Amino acid sequence: MHKFIDKIKRFESKPFIIENFLTKEEVSLFQKLYEELPIEVNNRRQKIIKKKWSDEYNKDLQSTYIKKLKGVISDFQLDNPKTINGAKSLGLFQESYMPVTLHVDTGFDFKKLIYKQTLLALSDTGETIIFKNRFYGCSTTFSIDPKELSSKGYNRRSSEHLKLYGNKDFNKEIHEKYLGHEDINNLKGLEVEMVFKWKLGDLLVFDRSNLHCSSNNIKNKKLGFTSSTKRL
Ligand SMILES: [Fe+2]
Repeated sequence: MHKFIDKIKRFESKPFIIENFLTKEEVSLFQKLYEELPIEVNNRRQKIIKKKWSDEYNKDLQSTYIKKLKGVISDFQLDNPKTINGAKSLGLFQESYMPVTLHVDTGFDFKKLIYKQTLLALSDTGETIIFKNRFYGCSTTFSIDPKELSSKGYNRRSSEHLKLYGNKDFNKEIHEKYLGHEDINNLKGLEVEMVFKWKLGDLLVFDRSNLHCSSNNIKNKKLGFTSSTKRL
Protein backbone atom coordinates (compact mmCIF):
# COMPACT_ATOMS: atom_id res chain seq x y z
CA MET A 1 0.00 0.00 0.00
CA HIS A 2 1.09 3.55 -0.66
CA LYS A 3 2.29 5.21 2.52
CA PHE A 4 1.07 8.77 2.01
CA ILE A 5 -2.45 8.10 0.81
CA ASP A 6 -3.87 11.18 2.56
CA LYS A 7 -1.42 13.44 0.75
CA ILE A 8 -1.98 11.62 -2.54
CA LYS A 9 -5.73 12.11 -2.17
CA ARG A 10 -5.33 15.86 -1.75
CA PHE A 11 -4.03 16.08 -5.31
CA GLU A 12 -6.75 13.89 -6.77
CA SER A 13 -9.53 15.08 -9.04
CA LYS A 14 -11.99 13.76 -11.56
CA PRO A 15 -10.44 12.88 -14.91
CA PHE A 16 -10.51 15.62 -17.51
CA ILE A 17 -9.70 16.20 -21.18
CA ILE A 18 -7.66 19.02 -22.72
CA GLU A 19 -8.83 19.38 -26.29
CA ASN A 20 -6.13 20.28 -28.81
CA PHE A 21 -3.39 20.00 -26.22
CA LEU A 22 -1.06 19.74 -29.21
CA THR A 23 -1.19 21.74 -32.42
CA LYS A 24 -1.26 19.84 -35.74
CA GLU A 25 2.45 20.56 -36.20
CA GLU A 26 3.28 19.22 -32.75
CA VAL A 27 1.25 16.08 -33.43
CA SER A 28 3.41 15.47 -36.53
CA LEU A 29 6.55 15.98 -34.45
CA PHE A 30 5.36 13.40 -31.93
CA GLN A 31 4.53 10.93 -34.70
CA LYS A 32 7.93 11.49 -36.29
CA LEU A 33 9.62 11.02 -32.92
CA TYR A 34 7.76 7.73 -32.49
CA GLU A 35 9.13 6.47 -35.81
CA GLU A 36 12.69 7.35 -34.77
CA LEU A 37 12.70 5.78 -31.33
CA PRO A 38 14.01 2.25 -30.81
CA ILE A 39 11.52 -0.47 -29.86
CA GLU A 40 11.53 -1.29 -26.16
CA VAL A 41 8.89 -4.04 -26.11
CA ASN A 42 7.26 -5.94 -28.96
CA ASN A 43 4.71 -8.16 -27.29
CA ARG A 44 3.17 -10.43 -29.87
CA ARG A 45 0.77 -12.01 -27.38
CA GLN A 46 -0.79 -8.69 -26.44
CA LYS A 47 -0.13 -7.23 -29.92
CA ILE A 48 1.50 -4.10 -28.61
CA ILE A 49 4.66 -2.19 -29.47
CA LYS A 50 6.14 0.02 -26.77
CA LYS A 51 8.78 2.71 -27.17
CA LYS A 52 10.07 4.93 -24.40
CA TRP A 53 10.86 8.57 -25.08
CA SER A 54 14.49 8.66 -24.06
CA ASP A 55 15.57 12.16 -23.03
CA GLU A 56 18.29 11.88 -25.66
CA TYR A 57 15.69 12.42 -28.39
CA ASN A 58 14.25 15.74 -29.54
CA LYS A 59 15.13 18.18 -26.74
CA ASP A 60 13.04 20.97 -28.29
CA LEU A 61 9.90 18.88 -28.21
CA GLN A 62 10.72 17.86 -24.64
CA SER A 63 10.64 21.45 -23.42
CA THR A 64 7.46 22.16 -25.39
CA TYR A 65 5.77 19.10 -23.90
CA ILE A 66 6.84 19.77 -20.32
CA LYS A 67 5.89 23.44 -20.53
CA LYS A 68 2.45 22.55 -21.88
CA LEU A 69 1.96 19.89 -19.23
CA LYS A 70 2.92 22.39 -16.50
CA GLY A 71 0.12 24.59 -17.79
CA VAL A 72 -2.36 21.78 -17.23
CA ILE A 73 -1.26 20.01 -14.03
CA SER A 74 1.06 22.69 -12.53
CA ASP A 75 3.83 21.35 -10.28
CA PHE A 76 4.82 17.85 -11.20
CA GLN A 77 7.80 15.66 -11.81
CA LEU A 78 7.89 12.98 -14.43
CA ASP A 79 7.94 9.51 -12.93
CA ASN A 80 8.62 7.02 -15.72
CA PRO A 81 10.78 3.90 -15.69
CA LYS A 82 14.16 4.37 -17.41
CA THR A 83 14.84 3.00 -20.90
CA ILE A 84 16.64 -0.32 -21.47
CA ASN A 85 19.82 1.71 -21.88
CA GLY A 86 19.36 3.49 -18.56
CA ALA A 87 18.33 6.85 -20.02
CA LYS A 88 15.65 9.00 -18.41
CA SER A 89 12.28 8.72 -20.12
CA LEU A 90 9.49 11.23 -20.62
CA GLY A 91 6.94 8.49 -21.09
CA LEU A 92 5.79 5.61 -23.17
CA PHE A 93 4.50 5.39 -26.73
CA GLN A 94 2.14 2.45 -27.19
CA GLU A 95 1.00 1.23 -30.56
CA SER A 96 -1.69 -1.31 -29.91
CA TYR A 97 -3.88 -3.57 -31.99
CA MET A 98 -5.66 -5.11 -29.04
CA PRO A 99 -7.38 -3.51 -26.06
CA VAL A 100 -5.38 -3.11 -22.87
CA THR A 101 -7.14 -4.82 -19.96
CA LEU A 102 -8.16 -3.49 -16.55
CA HIS A 103 -5.24 -2.11 -14.53
CA VAL A 104 -3.86 0.71 -12.45
CA ASP A 105 -0.56 2.64 -12.88
CA THR A 106 0.35 3.35 -9.27
CA GLY A 107 4.01 2.35 -9.60
CA PHE A 108 6.08 0.32 -7.17
CA ASP A 109 7.49 2.91 -4.77
CA PHE A 110 5.08 3.33 -1.89
CA LYS A 111 6.91 6.41 -0.57
CA LYS A 112 6.16 8.45 -3.66
CA LEU A 113 3.36 10.97 -3.94
CA ILE A 114 1.86 9.56 -7.11
CA TYR A 115 -0.03 12.21 -9.06
CA LYS A 116 -1.52 12.31 -12.57
CA GLN A 117 -1.33 9.90 -15.47
CA THR A 118 -1.61 11.57 -18.87
CA LEU A 119 -2.60 10.02 -22.16
CA LEU A 120 -1.96 11.85 -25.39
CA ALA A 121 -3.92 10.63 -28.41
CA LEU A 122 -1.72 10.34 -31.48
CA SER A 123 -4.35 8.60 -33.55
CA ASP A 124 -8.03 9.32 -34.02
CA THR A 125 -9.23 5.84 -33.20
CA GLY A 126 -9.33 4.58 -29.67
CA GLU A 127 -11.26 4.86 -26.45
CA THR A 128 -10.09 4.72 -22.87
CA ILE A 129 -12.42 3.86 -20.01
CA ILE A 130 -11.71 5.45 -16.63
CA PHE A 131 -13.47 3.95 -13.62
CA LYS A 132 -14.50 5.76 -10.46
CA ASN A 133 -12.83 3.02 -8.44
CA ARG A 134 -9.36 3.64 -7.06
CA PHE A 135 -6.50 1.47 -5.85
CA TYR A 136 -3.43 2.32 -3.74
CA GLY A 137 -1.34 -0.83 -4.00
CA CYS A 138 1.34 -1.23 -6.67
CA SER A 139 0.83 -1.22 -10.47
CA THR A 140 -1.52 -4.13 -11.03
CA THR A 141 -3.42 -5.82 -13.83
CA PHE A 142 -6.75 -7.03 -12.48
CA SER A 143 -8.08 -10.30 -13.81
CA ILE A 144 -9.98 -13.45 -12.92
CA ASP A 145 -8.48 -15.43 -15.80
CA PRO A 146 -6.08 -18.04 -14.35
CA LYS A 147 -3.87 -17.77 -17.45
CA GLU A 148 -3.52 -14.01 -17.07
CA LEU A 149 -3.01 -14.33 -13.31
CA SER A 150 -0.08 -16.66 -13.78
CA SER A 151 1.52 -14.66 -16.62
CA LYS A 152 4.38 -12.30 -15.95
CA GLY A 153 4.85 -8.69 -16.97
CA TYR A 154 5.69 -5.27 -15.59
CA ASN A 155 2.47 -5.15 -13.57
CA ARG A 156 1.58 -7.44 -10.73
CA ARG A 157 -1.45 -9.66 -11.50
CA SER A 158 -4.29 -9.94 -9.02
CA SER A 159 -8.01 -10.39 -8.54
CA GLU A 160 -8.06 -8.61 -5.17
CA HIS A 161 -10.10 -5.76 -6.69
CA LEU A 162 -13.15 -8.01 -6.38
CA LYS A 163 -12.90 -7.77 -2.60
CA LEU A 164 -12.69 -3.99 -2.60
CA TYR A 165 -15.66 -2.50 -4.42
CA GLY A 166 -18.65 -4.64 -3.52
CA ASN A 167 -20.52 -7.29 -5.40
CA LYS A 168 -22.75 -5.26 -7.69
CA ASP A 169 -22.99 -6.59 -11.24
CA PHE A 170 -21.44 -4.38 -13.88
CA ASN A 171 -23.75 -2.50 -16.26
CA LYS A 172 -24.60 -4.87 -19.16
CA GLU A 173 -25.06 -2.20 -21.84
CA ILE A 174 -21.76 -0.50 -21.08
CA HIS A 175 -20.07 -3.87 -21.06
CA GLU A 176 -21.47 -4.73 -24.46
CA LYS A 177 -20.66 -1.34 -25.95
CA TYR A 178 -17.09 -0.90 -24.73
CA LEU A 179 -15.76 -3.79 -22.71
CA GLY A 180 -16.40 -7.02 -24.58
CA HIS A 181 -12.76 -8.01 -24.06
CA GLU A 182 -13.30 -8.11 -20.29
CA ASP A 183 -15.22 -10.87 -18.50
CA ILE A 184 -18.19 -9.01 -17.01
CA ASN A 185 -17.52 -10.81 -13.71
CA ASN A 186 -14.09 -9.16 -13.61
CA LEU A 187 -15.87 -5.79 -13.45
CA LYS A 188 -18.08 -6.43 -10.40
CA GLY A 189 -18.44 -3.33 -8.25
CA LEU A 190 -16.89 -1.06 -10.89
CA GLU A 191 -18.49 2.13 -12.14
CA VAL A 192 -17.45 4.12 -15.20
CA GLU A 193 -16.36 7.69 -14.57
CA MET A 194 -15.48 8.65 -18.14
CA VAL A 195 -15.13 7.35 -21.66
CA PHE A 196 -12.33 9.21 -23.44
CA LYS A 197 -12.85 9.11 -27.19
CA TRP A 198 -9.46 9.69 -28.72
CA LYS A 199 -8.97 12.71 -30.93
CA LEU A 200 -5.62 13.53 -32.44
CA GLY A 201 -3.76 15.91 -30.13
CA ASP A 202 -6.20 15.69 -27.21
CA LEU A 203 -4.88 14.93 -23.74
CA LEU A 204 -6.61 12.86 -21.07
CA VAL A 205 -5.57 13.50 -17.48
CA PHE A 206 -6.53 11.13 -14.66
CA ASP A 207 -5.23 10.10 -11.27
CA ARG A 208 -2.73 7.29 -11.03
CA SER A 209 -5.05 5.60 -8.56
CA ASN A 210 -7.92 5.35 -11.10
CA LEU A 211 -8.61 1.88 -12.49
CA HIS A 212 -8.78 2.02 -16.29
CA CYS A 213 -8.60 0.03 -19.51
CA SER A 214 -9.08 0.39 -23.26
CA SER A 215 -12.41 -0.17 -24.90
CA ASN A 216 -12.68 -3.03 -27.37
CA ASN A 217 -13.42 -0.64 -30.21
CA ILE A 218 -10.10 -0.51 -32.01
CA LYS A 219 -10.14 0.03 -35.73
CA ASN A 220 -6.92 -1.53 -36.91
CA LYS A 221 -4.54 0.15 -34.45
CA LYS A 222 -4.05 3.11 -32.20
CA LEU A 223 -1.07 5.13 -31.05
CA GLY A 224 -0.90 6.94 -27.74
CA PHE A 225 1.72 8.45 -25.48
CA THR A 226 1.46 8.19 -21.68
CA SER A 227 3.41 9.88 -18.92
CA SER A 228 3.29 9.12 -15.22
CA THR A 229 3.86 11.96 -12.79
CA LYS A 230 4.48 12.49 -9.10
CA ARG A 231 4.60 15.42 -6.66
CA LEU A 232 7.37 16.26 -4.25
FE1 LIG B 1 -2.57 2.61 -17.88
